[in-house]
Parts: sequence; C-alpha cells; structure tokens
Amino acid sequence: MVQLRLPPNSRVMPGKEVSSVSDAEKILTVRVYRWHPDAGENPRLDTFQLDRGQCGAMVLDALIQIKNTLDTTLAFRRSCREGVCGSCAMNINGRNTLACTKAIDDYGDTLTIYPLPHQQVVKDLVTDMTHFYAQYAAIEPWLQTVTPAPADRERLQSEEERGRLDGLYDCILCACCSTACPSYWWNSDKYLGPAVLLQAHRWIADSRDEMTGERLDDLEDPFKLYRCHTIMNCTDTCPKGLNPAKSIAEIKKLLLERKG
Ligand code: SF4
Ligand code: SF4
Ligand code: FES
Repeated sequence: MVQLRLPPNSRVMPGKEVSSVSDAEKILTVRVYRWHPDAGENPRLDTFQLDRGQCGAMVLDALIQIKNTLDTTLAFRRSCREGVCGSCAMNINGRNTLACTKAIDDYGDTLTIYPLPHQQVVKDLVTDMTHFYAQYAAIEPWLQTVTPAPADRERLQSEEERGRLDGLYDCILCACCSTACPSYWWNSDKYLGPAVLLQAHRWIADSRDEMTGERLDDLEDPFKLYRCHTIMNCTDTCPKGLNPAKSIAEIKKLLLERKG
C-alpha cells in the first residue's frame, strides 16, 4: 500500500523555547531545525528569542548569537561571512540562501531556518555534501590541454573570451540551486544538478580548454544532463544571482549543434 505520510521518526516535533530577552524593545524570534541522528529522537523545531538590538544585521549573526548565548550545541557551517565560501547555505523562511548575506530586516521579526532540503543531515543545519562534491569532481573541474603551453607566457585569452566566463566562474558551490531542484531531489544519484552542470559549462566555455568534445561526450546522457525539465527553481534561488538553467540550456544547445 502506498505510504502517504512521512515515517513517524522523521516528523519535526515542537522543540524547546529559550529566551534571553526581558525588556528588549524589539524581539527577534528564530525557529531552528534541530536533529542529532545518533540521539534516536525525532527532529524538532526549537524557538529562540533574541534582543534585536544586541544582534548583528544578518541571519548568520542571529545564529552566532544563539550559539554564543543560548545554546552552544547548535550546529551550522560558516566561514567567510561575506558570501564567498558558500558554507552557510540553508533554507531561511522557505528559500535556500546564504545566511551571511541575508539581512534579518528583510524577513521581519521571525526567522524559520531549516537545513538545505533533500540532503542527509549530519546535525541540525549541517548537511552531508559528500555526494555533491563527488559529482563536482566527476566533471574534472580544471583546465585540460593537449598542446604544450607557450614557453614565454601564460595561455592568453582575448577580452571577449574571458568575458564568456562571467556568471560561471563566480559560482561558489553553495548547493542552494541543486537542493531547490525537484529533478535533483528525485534523481540526484544520476542527475548532476544545476550547480555541477553550471561548473561543467564553465570549463566547456573556457577558450583555453582543449577537452570540449570529451566534456560534451560525458554529459550526453539521459540522466546526467537531460533530467533538467526547465523548472527554473535553480536560477530563482541562486544567492549570487547566477543562471544555472541557462548553462544547462547552453550545454544542450552545443550538443544539438555538433550533431549538425
Ligand atoms: S549556481 Fe548559485 S546557487 Fe548554485 S551553487 Fe553556484 S552560487 Fe550556489
Ligand atoms: S531548470 Fe533544471 S536544474 Fe534548474 S531547477 Fe529546473 S529542473 Fe532543476
Ligand atoms: S559564511 Fe561564507 S558564504 Fe556565508
């Protein structure tokens, strides 16, 4: 019989409520997904109340404030805190984005924070990125050549050739797009997903790379590339304003063109 409900142990239960505010003018309520797979308990949604005046401007500041003052066991990733490393990707008020570049004021007085969807959770907001990185490695993301490099200089590009990499090299591999893609949710074992396909396009578009044909051969596959159904969630959610759906369309176009 078809199971229409989530298994009981995956349902998110109401969690604890912790507050550090007494006479704050403005209160920020932060609801955070908590789960420790080894603890044998259901996930829960904890509620923290912060004095908005004591907290920095960004969502990441609120999480750091919670960890520093209310609950040291809260787990989340962060490093650069300026939208460069991609490690603070999470789902904030229903949308995948970077906690460090999103202002609390953009959301009002309540934040609801979950880990990136459809990823295995390691703990709380930390997800297992092993498979995502393995897919990235599989597209061989480095410059590949067969001709020897000029003896006296680098492999140069014209301004126009370099310009073709704009919007591609800027990807920080945060996985917001792939984990917002329904095709990736259901087929991530075989479908590469928008982030990795944008990265593949980055090397296909590089005028210095001499493995374009081989790279396209590798992507000509019903699952690796063609599971994209142009739903556009990826482009809609990218916190860097990139367009992975366009990259996927460009790869499909190149495959068609070479068929003649
Ligand atoms: S395309 Fe955007 S959302 Fe996707 S991994 Fe790169 S930076 Fe993140
Ligand atoms: S356009 Fe393709 S990759 Fe982007 S969300 Fe839709 S199906 Fe996924
Ligand atoms: S902490 Fe590096 S992107 Fe947010």
